[in-house]
Amino acid sequence: MEKIVSLCKRRGFIMQSSEIYGGLNGCWDFGPLGAELKRNLKDFWWRRMVRERDDVVGMDGSILMNRQVWVASGHEATFSDPMVDCRNCKSRLRADQLPEKDGKRQCAVCGSLDLTEPRAFNLMFKTYVGATEDESAITYLRPETAQAIFVQFKNILEVARKKLPFGIAQIGKAFRNEINPRNFTFRSREFEQMELEYFCRPEGGLELLEYWLKERLKFYKDIGISSELLHIHKIPPEECAHYSKGTYDIEFDFPFGIQELEGVAYRTDYDLTQHQKASGKSLEYFDEETKQRFVPHVVEPSAGVDRTVLALICAAYSEEMAPDEKGKLETRIVLKFHPRMAPIKCGIFPLLKNNEKLVRQAREIVKILRPHMMVFYDESGAIGRRYRRQDEAGTPFGVTVDFDTIGENGPTNEGTVTIRERDSMKQERVPILELKSLLLDRID
Ligand code: GAP
Repeated sequence: MEKIVSLCKRRGFIMQSSEIYGGLNGCWDFGPLGAELKRNLKDFWWRRMVRERDDVVGMDGSILMNRQVWVASGHEATFSDPMVDCRNCKSRLRADQLPEKDGKRQCAVCGSLDLTEPRAFNLMFKTYVGATEDESAITYLRPETAQAIFVQFKNILEVARKKLPFGIAQIGKAFRNEINPRNFTFRSREFEQMELEYFCRPEGGLELLEYWLKERLKFYKDIGISSELLHIHKIPPEECAHYSKGTYDIEFDFPFGIQELEGVAYRTDYDLTQHQKASGKSLEYFDEETKQRFVPHVVEPSAGVDRTVLALICAAYSEEMAPDEKGKLETRIVLKFHPRMAPIKCGIFPLLKNNEKLVRQAREIVKILRPHMMVFYDESGAIGRRYRRQDEAGTPFGVTVDFDTIGENGPTNEGTVTIRERDSMKQERVPILELKSLLLDRID
């Protein structure tokens, strides 16, 4: 994990928020490569969950909502973790994550057994809307994106003119004042979620739970996370939320242990019913065919963007021995991202930077490819070094413009370049004219 954290900082994937002021615990910034990776993940989720389906529409809700949303959903009363204080070192700790000694909870920081009794700590960030900081102005930064979907259910049902089963998808920021943010970005205080609320008839819920579990596992495969690194944890009924008729956690084998990536939960009609009761507005669905009116049930696949980005980096990280330009073995660090997820799709290199023809041709190729994919032009240093730099960034393809390309070794290979594939390090020659379609095929 240390190697991954250091690579993330060194290469600009992820860094501490407000670092020059000592940081802010549980908050992270994504640098140039991290921002691209995150964007690729969100775009692909949106494509799979919304654009490629007839039965799902998207929305983009506000982060601040009427406080009554959080009262009705139960978050204000119960969205809490049990917290204890260590009387010895004064640390604040999550009671359910502490080691035990002789059957007693132990401080994870100093080892003391002198802890306070657990008390509920609400995880929502409280804030005030408007100029007066009194009780009537209180609301919260949303701790999940889902509630905006539930409270807009009726409006969206009307405008989208969909029949059950159908879903509403959303990607956005969520905030939780976690007692112990930890494991890099895994448990953050500010993070993003990708959530789908898939509404259905009550009798379809359990089957759709299984359907969405399968769909979501397929998604992880399609972004390059091998099924060997994933685990399905069926939450025992006694541990499920009281309204849930079934929940699966999709877990990932992180270097710090097997941990949740996504929850797929059958939440029955709990959320819509709560909002219907509290708002006094009908959130029922009218079935034209059966003439029935009822509150739909919902199956919710809810994934974390930041956790999936971390999983992508962990799954991609590899170290191997490879010969340098002089044939000497050295350690090659490679991020073996699926080309779909890779922040940069193609590195473009003129063999020499002081040859005007090579540089001009390489820049020409940049112009051809840039509207279609993220490319990176690099002319500095030996070509082997440039490949290594891109290996570490996870760039799946490297295009080199050499003397064959510009016809200096005869006409046979004029107008062709070499493409180097990151993982096999194999090179092939292809005409510049075919480059765009060939790369687009391979990165999609
Ligand atoms: N609407 C349901 C819901 O929010 P959750 O299991 O609390 O369910 C869903 O959160 C996903 O959001 C988690 O599986 C995880 O990927 C992500 N997530 C939750 N808390 C997080 C945190 N503190 N830091 C990073 N990601 C988090």
